[in-house]
Amino acid sequence: MDERHTTAEAHLPIDASEDVGVNPSSAPSIGQLIERRLALKGLAAAGVLGALASMPLGRQAMAQAAGPSSLAFKEIPHSLDTTDHVPEGYERQVMVRWGDRLAADAPAFDPAKLTAAGQVKQFGYNCDFIGYLPLPRGSQNSAHGLLVVNHEYTNSNLMFAGLGSGRTANLKTSKEQAKVELAAHGVSIVEIKRVKGRWQVVANSKYNRRITGQTPMRLSGPAAGHAKLKTSADPTGTRVLGTLNNCAGGVTPWGTLLTAEENFNGYFGGDAAKLPEAEAYKRYGISQNSWYGWASHFDRFNVEKEPNEPHRFGWVVEIDPYEPASTPVKHTGLGRFKHEGAHSIVNKDGRLVVYQGDDQRFDYVYKYVSAAKYDAANPAANSRLLDEGTLFVAQFADDGKVIWMPLVHGQGPLISENGFASQADILINTRKAADLLKATPMDRPEDVEPNPVNGRVYVTLTNNAERKTDQVNKANPRAANAHGHVVEIIPPGNGPADMDHAATEARWDIFLLAGKPGVDAGARYHRATSEHGWLSCPDNCAFDAKGRIWIATDGAPTAADVADGLYAADTTGKGRALTRLFYQAPTGAEVCGPCFTPDGKTVFLAIQHPGEDPGSTFETPSTRWPDFKPGMPPRPSVVAVVRKGGGEIGG
Ligand code: FEO
Ligand code: CA
Ligand code: CA
Ligand code: CA
Repeated sequence: MDERHTTAEAHLPIDASEDVGVNPSSAPSIGQLIERRLALKGLAAAGVLGALASMPLGRQAMAQAAGPSSLAFKEIPHSLDTTDHVPEGYERQVMVRWGDRLAADAPAFDPAKLTAAGQVKQFGYNCDFIGYLPLPRGSQNSAHGLLVVNHEYTNSNLMFAGLGSGRTANLKTSKEQAKVELAAHGVSIVEIKRVKGRWQVVANSKYNRRITGQTPMRLSGPAAGHAKLKTSADPTGTRVLGTLNNCAGGVTPWGTLLTAEENFNGYFGGDAAKLPEAEAYKRYGISQNSWYGWASHFDRFNVEKEPNEPHRFGWVVEIDPYEPASTPVKHTGLGRFKHEGAHSIVNKDGRLVVYQGDDQRFDYVYKYVSAAKYDAANPAANSRLLDEGTLFVAQFADDGKVIWMPLVHGQGPLISENGFASQADILINTRKAADLLKATPMDRPEDVEPNPVNGRVYVTLTNNAERKTDQVNKANPRAANAHGHVVEIIPPGNGPADMDHAATEARWDIFLLAGKPGVDAGARYHRATSEHGWLSCPDNCAFDAKGRIWIATDGAPTAADVADGLYAADTTGKGRALTRLFYQAPTGAEVCGPCFTPDGKTVFLAIQHPGEDPGSTFETPSTRWPDFKPGMPPRPSVVAVVRKGGGEIGG
């Protein structure tokens, strides 16, 4: 979900009043301008630091033609229209759309007759994170597997007739419509197969499953059972109904999905200011300004009636897609905040490290390090790694160091006098604990993902228009950062296999500063980046088998006729940070979840909220992608992009 937009209608769930950071400690960052550091060690070392501002765009394009990128596809031009685009020689296949049948007894999709009973058996709305898990489990099969897909939120104005346009439509839904929305949230698990070059859903598969805003799940880890997690429906504080606002995520080395609950605050209404937890709720953005009408339909979303329910959201949830009857688990050990992703890596010493971002203006980057070691021979035992470990928050120092600070009860300010009577208190109110440790407020951390080839960890920082000039620091170097940037974390060690992701210190560097070169102050890429290769608002990223980064965007400058898209770049060598446009989304949509099959020959993309444009309604949407049939609303969908005739994506 993008919180960038300030018009009331763009990007529905958030309006201008919501469009603010809620971190009171975002103030005075370290000052001092960065141009110095923007001699970007990394880029400079690679000999490619670009003075783009002074380079005519035509010449940049020429430079690209003879450029140093390892990527062989022909870049597509920036544009904006009702459909999507891929490079010459590539093909995109629409695999699964909102409303497509997953269960054998699911009704066919009929947008005029949506029911919750049908929606729980159909593919959900606003697809986001995508994971591909090969079948059989543990194999590298690139032609048959399980697609696990998050469904972040719903656009009431595009799902239902008669609600008008914009965010206010979300507040007008009936109780029955709200039940459809709850059923359209969560996760889909879909068995897929490639047959004669075409990807297809396996109908009626035993693996096909929907997890929704109502699916029973379990809380585990240090905060499970805590008094703040108890409700009238669950006096044990260990059972929750549903997962919400599942944004990005990750897959574990043992083949489970980690799905991240992001803007959970928007579903709750009622006057939180009257509650004992008022300060904490404010820090998490829970207010009467609900984004949905659910609080008036269901008591559990009204904090005046069920004050602890919000504490049961904002977690990372583990789901085993290979076991359709398994109960999802909310792992409290990974902390509670607006989780974007949860990308894990087995450290060289065998411990599991999970990198995470808290996607809000001026919020933080985290990692979790397990206490025990990953056991490849005993997959069922590994879930426990997510319950016993240490959560760290990052300080990006101006000298280029990352200091990982442990969030451990009794250490430093994390004591009873400051409201932390136990480790559970820290995990439930993670943001406050991280504030006290003086973590570095970032420009909205989205994905934080290790590149398995070069060992570096890439932090996509999507934007932060609120950062003032006296709040810049070297890792967030631009005030009023409308376009975002990408930071690299470099763990200590000699080469990728030796890097220590569990270490309490690392180094950081800037990979790129987004925006249009020559127009947006401070935009920095490889100097050969073309007039179509620049990007805005990096959100999700993925790495191909060569370690190249693929960056999906959420918030392209549509006024300049630029759609959101997928961009690729080398991360090392002469083509480092030379971004190139590979895929263009239809109007209103962001691109999510880039995900490669193990053979690198397919990339799956989640096309989220097509038609989410000002004035767009169910009756007259800005696009009817991907069906383009009269009366059919736009449908968030997962597409597969392949090369015609086969071959590695990107070349
Ligand atoms: Fe849901 Fe941070 O994007
Ligand atoms: Ca999103
Ligand atoms: Ca986003
Ligand atoms: Ca996102």
